[in-house]
Amino acid sequence: MKDKKVALIIGSTGQDGAYLTSHLLKLDYKVVATRRRTSMLNTQRLDWILSDLKSEKEKNLSVEYADVTDTLSITKILDKFLPDEVYNLSAQSHVAVSFEQPEYTANVNALGPLRILEAIRMLGLRKKIKFYQASTSELFGNVLSWPQSEETPFNVVSPYAAAKQFAHNLVKIYREAYDIFACSGILFNHESPIRGSNFVTKKIVRGIFEFQKSQTSVQLGNLDAIRDWGHARDYVQMQHLMLQQKQPRDFVIGTGKETTVREFVELVSHRMGLELEWQGRGVKEVGVCSKADNKNLIGKIMVKVDQQYFRPLEVERLLADASLARSKLNWMPETNITQIVDEMVRFEFKKPNFDVI
Ligand code: NAP
Ligand code: GDD
Repeated sequence: MKDKKVALIIGSTGQDGAYLTSHLLKLDYKVVATRRRTSMLNTQRLDWILSDLKSEKEKNLSVEYADVTDTLSITKILDKFLPDEVYNLSAQSHVAVSFEQPEYTANVNALGPLRILEAIRMLGLRKKIKFYQASTSELFGNVLSWPQSEETPFNVVSPYAAAKQFAHNLVKIYREAYDIFACSGILFNHESPIRGSNFVTKKIVRGIFEFQKSQTSVQLGNLDAIRDWGHARDYVQMQHLMLQQKQPRDFVIGTGKETTVREFVELVSHRMGLELEWQGRGVKEVGVCSKADNKNLIGKIMVKVDQQYFRPLEVERLLADASLARSKLNWMPETNITQIVDEMVRFEFKKPNFDVI
């Protein structure tokens, strides 16, 4: 009997890590999923997503400690499990936080992938392992052309993106210099019910849900930012497909559809049976509830713009051209923005017994 393929997922406790673990187990991989040592449980998302998998699948999963700031932990796990595929999803992934903690962000997001690639090389595994790096549409930054494809030049505007650009370049260098099968997925924003709560989509869903219950308003920054939002479940399929190519190559992954933060608020409100009217401008702008079954909510402020949520530099507009992924890997996103909103809202109403941090 042919041995199962072994995949190492570094950063399995995050949104994508949970979806990718589930996807690879369903494809009959043995999965080694890493978590960081923390003082409290941090595997809730993984546990939630794996709860529908049968126990045979669970037997193929091993959850191990590893941290990309700790070279030894990375080297040891590679040496112990000798994986066929390594997915580096680990990151300090919040753009605004990267302005507060630029050095830490660089350590995890830039030096982390360096440590993994060097460990692969030094352990003599460069012909065995295929490596995936979680790159990002944030690299396009202050965007130089629309829509953004693999050919669009980068123009980063945050410490997060600067660190990710270092990693992106490194993947190319290790691919060309050492012939490692390494590629980067340039992923546009992707969301899900288990999105971290300080990203704008989850913050809006949770905030409007709370408004319905307790009339507290949700405070946001730039309502006019435009993003190309897809679903994490669709995007992890592409991460796997990228490592099944004959030759390693980078791909842009996105939906090709634009939505503003303001429109996202309106979609979520509508899905919860509420409507709102925008009043005022700039940091004085508010969204006032104009329609609700509960008449006590009408006239109350649902959304407030707050200066503290603006960034020192902003990526105003992102839009993907993922035609290469469509033509070479036959990949298409399956979930549109209305379905994403619907899933996120339904999850919020179900009140899962864990908090998405
Ligand atoms: P996420 O939910 O923030 O997950 C990040 C993961 O990295 C978590 O498992 C986290 O562990 C882990 N991690 C953080 N620091 C680490 C360290 N020092 N060592 C090992 N693991 C560490 O992010 P995501 O949305 O799933 O995104 C996955 C990757 O894709 C990230 O690299 C992100 O930058 C990139 N990306 C995301 C998007 C998007 O829209 N979601 C788009 C483009 C690129 P804890 O659970 O312990 O915090
Ligand atoms: N987080 C947050 N909180 N963002 C807000 C808020 C707020 O209160 N108000 C407005 N925004 C705007 C941000 O300024 C940004 O323009 C947009 O909403 C999306 O913000 P996030 O959800 O934090 O995502 P991001 O686009 O900055 O970064 C995400 O996508 C990248 C890919 O483009 C992250 O997942 C990154 O890790 C990823 O690389």
